[in-house]
Amino acid sequence: MKLMNFQDIARARDLLAAGDVVAIPTETVYGLAASIESEAALRKVFALKGRPFFDPLIVHAHSIKQAQSLVREWPPVADFLARFFWPGPLTLILPRAAHVNPLITAGLDTVAIRIPRHDFTLKLIEQLGAPIAAPSANRFGRTSPSRAEHVTSEFPNENLLVLDGGPCEIGLESTVISFALVSNQSDAAAAAATDVTNVDHIQILRPGGISEAELVEALTKWSRPTVVTRLSGSERSPGTLQMHYQPKIPLVILASQTDPQAEETRASLEKSMQRKISNPVQLDLNDDPILAARELYHDMRRLSESGADILVVQHSAEKQNGSWEAIWDRLTRAATLDLSR
Ligand code: TXA
Ligand code: MG
Repeated sequence: MKLMNFQDIARARDLLAAGDVVAIPTETVYGLAASIESEAALRKVFALKGRPFFDPLIVHAHSIKQAQSLVREWPPVADFLARFFWPGPLTLILPRAAHVNPLITAGLDTVAIRIPRHDFTLKLIEQLGAPIAAPSANRFGRTSPSRAEHVTSEFPNENLLVLDGGPCEIGLESTVISFALVSNQSDAAAAAATDVTNVDHIQILRPGGISEAELVEALTKWSRPTVVTRLSGSERSPGTLQMHYQPKIPLVILASQTDPQAEETRASLEKSMQRKISNPVQLDLNDDPILAARELYHDMRRLSESGADILVVQHSAEKQNGSWEAIWDRLTRAATLDLSR
C-alpha cells in the first residue's frame, strides 16, 4: 500500500511508534524503517529483507543533536563534515552510545549515522521523537529501490506502507566513511610511527552520493590536514559484499572495445555464460554522472523486467572518475560476469 501525501506522515509515525515497519523516501534510495527503540520492528526489518544479522543498519537522525545522542565520541572533523554535508548522502561511522541496540550495529562498537535530505522523512523522524534505523528497502542482495513503486514490487505480498516521496534525487546510496580515532590502539601506533598525530584520517568504506573529490574539496576548509583513503576488499564495511544490487536477470559488463550489438559478442557471451542467449538488452549510462546515478536502479529494474534474458553494460574509460566511482562500484557488484578486466 502506498501513502501519497504529507498528511500520511502522522499515520506512518503511529505505525513506527507501535513497533511496525514503514518504507521511507530519502534522497539516495528508499529505506525500510524501524524506530531504534523497537526491537520487534528492528527484527522485522531483518526478516522482511532476508538480511543476515552481521550486516549493520544506518541510523537516520533529524538533527545533529539527535545524531550526537547516538555516540560516545563526536570528533571535531566529524562535526565539520556533518555540518557541511547534512542533510545529505554521507554516513558517519562513530563509536556507539551504550543505549544503541546491538541488533542495529551487528554487535560492533560503532554505529552508522546520517541525516537524510527528504522533507517527508525528516518530518517523520521529528514527529516520532526517535531516530530510525533503515537499510535500503530491497530484498537482501538485490537492486535498491529509487522509487516508491520499486518498493511495492520488491515486497508484493507484504502489507507494507510506503511513504511515496517521488523518485530519489541521488538514486544510489550514501557514501560511508569512518574515522581513525586515537582511541583505536593500532591507529595510535600507526600515528606514532609516521608522526601524523595532527592529521585527521578518513576512510571511505563505501563510495556513494558524495564523491571522494567532494570530500577532499570540503576538507580544504577544515582547520587540520586530512588524509582520505579508500578501503578495499575485506577491509570494507561488513555489508559491502561482492555480490550485491543484483537485478532479476544476469548483468554482464562488456569491455569498452566490444560492440554490444555484434553477433560475435553474443556468441562469446553464450560461451562465457554456458547458455543460450536469445534477447540481450543494453543498459545505457547517461553521459552526465548525476543523471546516470539517478536513473541507474530504475533502468536496471525496468530492463530486467522487459523480457530480455541478459543485461549488458559497456565499460567506458571516460566514465570512471568522481561520481562515476559509486556507479561502477554498484555495477561491478551487480554483475554476474565482468569482461572488462
Ligand atoms: O543511502 C543510504 O545509505 C541508504 C538510505 C536508506 O539511507 N541506506 C543504505 O543502507 O544503503 P544499507 O543497509 O543498504 O547499507 C548500509 C551500509 C552497509 O554497507 C553496512 O555494512 C554499513 O552501511 N554499515 C552500517 N553500520 C556500520 C558500521 N558500524 N561499521 C561499518 N559499516 C557499517
Ligand atoms: Mg542496501
